[in-house]
Amino acid sequence: MKRRHFLASLPALAACRSAQDPASLASLPNLRADDRTAAELAGEESEWRAVQDAFAVDRSMVNFNNGGVSPSSEPVQESLKRLTAEANGAPAYVMWRLQDKRREEVRTALAELLGTDPEQVAITRNTSEGLQICQFGMNLERGDQVLCCDQEYPRMINTFLQRSRRDGIELVRFPIPVPLTDPDEVVRRFEARITPRTRVLLVSQVINLTGQFLPVDAVCALGRKHGIAVIVDGAHGFAHVPFKMDELDCDYYATSLHKWLSAPFGTGMLYVRKERIGDLWPLMASSESQRADIRKFEEIGTYSLPLVLSILDAVRFHQRLGTVNVHARLTYLRERWAQRIEGDPRVRWNTDRSPGRAGGIANFGIEGVDTAALQKHLWEDHRIYTITIRHRGVGTDGQELPAEAPLQIDGLRVSPSFYSTLEEVDRFGAVIENVLEHGLPA
Ligand SMILES: Cc1ncc(COP(=O)(O)O)c(C=O)c1O
Repeated sequence: MKRRHFLASLPALAACRSAQDPASLASLPNLRADDRTAAELAGEESEWRAVQDAFAVDRSMVNFNNGGVSPSSEPVQESLKRLTAEANGAPAYVMWRLQDKRREEVRTALAELLGTDPEQVAITRNTSEGLQICQFGMNLERGDQVLCCDQEYPRMINTFLQRSRRDGIELVRFPIPVPLTDPDEVVRRFEARITPRTRVLLVSQVINLTGQFLPVDAVCALGRKHGIAVIVDGAHGFAHVPFKMDELDCDYYATSLHKWLSAPFGTGMLYVRKERIGDLWPLMASSESQRADIRKFEEIGTYSLPLVLSILDAVRFHQRLGTVNVHARLTYLRERWAQRIEGDPRVRWNTDRSPGRAGGIANFGIEGVDTAALQKHLWEDHRIYTITIRHRGVGTDGQELPAEAPLQIDGLRVSPSFYSTLEEVDRFGAVIENVLEHGLPA
């Protein structure tokens, strides 16, 4: 085949055009253009049904662990399949000569959703990678201190603990109240531990154990006041919590796109404030000429461009809905099951559900009912998938609490998604009501 004919036959060329025209997204309601408020739209079933239908999930089970990892919608899966097939036609040519050109579109789309300049946005594989770029890439010296609460994600704590064994930095952890009814208490606890040796504050936008939102804006302001860098773990924040990065005013922010954005598995994003890029070392080496370029964090060898480009479809899907509406819907679903059981005094909330303090995720335990047994009952008898959270943490002295100390958190973490149905939420609520009335089956 002549080269010209070969190129013309490559489906990738067509793909570059068709991806501009996401016709399959047209079935979704355009909630962002709707005159109704987010609170009104949250209970508008006819609108959300089209969203539910766009997810080909296994409805023979109820998946309420979307906080772990979320499914992609059909349009996103279709795009990934199509782009992968095209790339396999001639990988080195299609991925590196054609598809790679569109990577900047992804960066721009993500930056727009995040509310910042694309030159501060790197595409990564997940939150862990983005955060570790910051945690390992900052210049820290023996004796420098890092502060965080003890409910940070274990991998991120382990990253700093490893750095502490290797480089002699000190990780100072502290407990925070459960449930967190006064968010300012977190800021006070950070501030009380700041010393002349404090270099970094690590804070989650949403605690993974409970779904509790933390006052990250106030922690960023605290860092700025003291000249201390702030790393925000946004694993559960992006596409879940309405916020704009430039208003948050943080130094480093990492998230996974396979959680609340429902992008393909193994996609993430890292924000680094422009002035901080030059001094942050990438995990994999890049050239000196890239020193101040956000793209240096993407020098990771061969990986899937189809995966990266499919992020665009997930962004477009999300933009039909809007983060404010997604947040309101998730809050609505959470309250639908939570209000059924909140009147029972045996229900212990590990999440403060006051407005604006949590979204789709909540955590509760039942006095006298073993959490793991409750989770087993939900799964084995009702095919409802949740997870048990048991967390002991550290004492006020920052030391790990002994095994005999009471747990800080012992409860079920429940995370429906915006594609979950009311019937699924009600089925879950009914099971818990039944357990409250009759106990677990023998
Ligand atoms: C708060 C938090 N940080 C980081 C991570 C790591 O995310 P990933 O496994 O996508 O890198 C998670 C995962 O659930 C998380 O909840």
